Amino acid sequence: SAATTTVAGPALRHTIIAKCPVSKARVTHIHLPHYTAHTPMFMPVGTKGTMKGLTVQQLEQLDCHVILANTYHMSLKPGQQLLDDMGGLHTWMGWNRGMLTDSGGFQMVSLIDLSSVTEDGVEFTSPYNDGSRILLTPEKSIELQNSIGADIMMQLDDVVNPLCPRERIEEAMWRSIRWLDRGIKAHRNPTRQNLFPIVQGGLHPDLRRKCIDEMVKRDAPGYAIGGLSGGEDKKEFWRIVSLCTDLLPENKPRYCMGIGYALDLVVCSALGVDMFDCVFPTRTARFGNALVPWGSMSLKHSAFKDDARPIDPGCPCPTCAQYSRAYLHRIVTRETTAAHLISVHNIAYQMQLMREMRHAIIEHRFPEWTQTFCRRQYPKGN
Ligand code: GUN
Ligand code: ZN
Repeated sequence: SAATTTVAGPALRHTIIAKCPVSKARVTHIHLPHYTAHTPMFMPVGTKGTMKGLTVQQLEQLDCHVILANTYHMSLKPGQQLLDDMGGLHTWMGWNRGMLTDSGGFQMVSLIDLSSVTEDGVEFTSPYNDGSRILLTPEKSIELQNSIGADIMMQLDDVVNPLCPRERIEEAMWRSIRWLDRGIKAHRNPTRQNLFPIVQGGLHPDLRRKCIDEMVKRDAPGYAIGGLSGGEDKKEFWRIVSLCTDLLPENKPRYCMGIGYALDLVVCSALGVDMFDCVFPTRTARFGNALVPWGSMSLKHSAFKDDARPIDPGCPCPTCAQYSRAYLHRIVTRETTAAHLISVHNIAYQMQLMREMRHAIIEHRFPEWTQTFCRRQYPKGN
């Protein structure tokens, strides 16, 4: 089909390159201030200078177009003042491609039990200082994200487990809409940074519909689907994603937050989602698990102790080019190096998966590709 370009907000241009004739899958280019991202894409977390994060050079080598940065973490180290002086996090970390920041509340709520939500914002105990209480408001979140300077910023939202009572989910949905309006008002660089709303509403179709209705009225440059992957049934989760992609504007990017299992990436791409992020590939690497086309491989297993092959002989990543399963098995329980090497492979795997989907969609063989993917990943058919 012919490429259609639409202006979708002043800091982003979104072009649909190809559409799957059978599913809702599409390949798009998101022209961001720092880089043009090709979708469907997976965005790894790229801001911790620790073993679990990859270096900027590694992320570039793996053909990563957009990285995720943690707003709250960055606001403490290097800190807001230094970020302002440097002109943002891109300069600070030497990354010149796309960057997205989450608003910070979700991380705090999921990290810290002692967080509480009021109409003002999310209050939590600082994990870094003396145990003082910190209030993150929708305005403060935007201010921090303006200092970081990412290409895409996320609104502060009220996130609740989708299995909560309906009343609490409805309250969180309306509050997220009010917080979106406060965020839009506080945004200082709408021509250089895109602010995405986050659709909430749990597993209730009517709440999702109402939320999208309200948020689409705000005419944002792109939209996220939030509040999923909290332990709900997969079929129900996919049904909600499908409802959302049916109702969100076709000409704007759609981002499904916190999704990272290979099967979910494939299904949600087929449902018309363009962007994904998840800590899963790096988290599972820390437990010694490598992602492979035939599923997952625990390098702790003694079956690998004399196995001279790389994790995946078909993988072009630096880890597979240099290290054997036996070597990784030997160090996996003792060395953080192992977690790092497996993280590199797992991110490479996610990137490769997304690239394969983009090519299959462009070449109009996405349905066949998904069949092959499923057969490899689930040979017994379950
Ligand atoms: N990450 C995964 N899910 C969510 C969500 O619903 N909101 C935010 N802000 N981040 C998320
Ligand atoms: Zn590899």
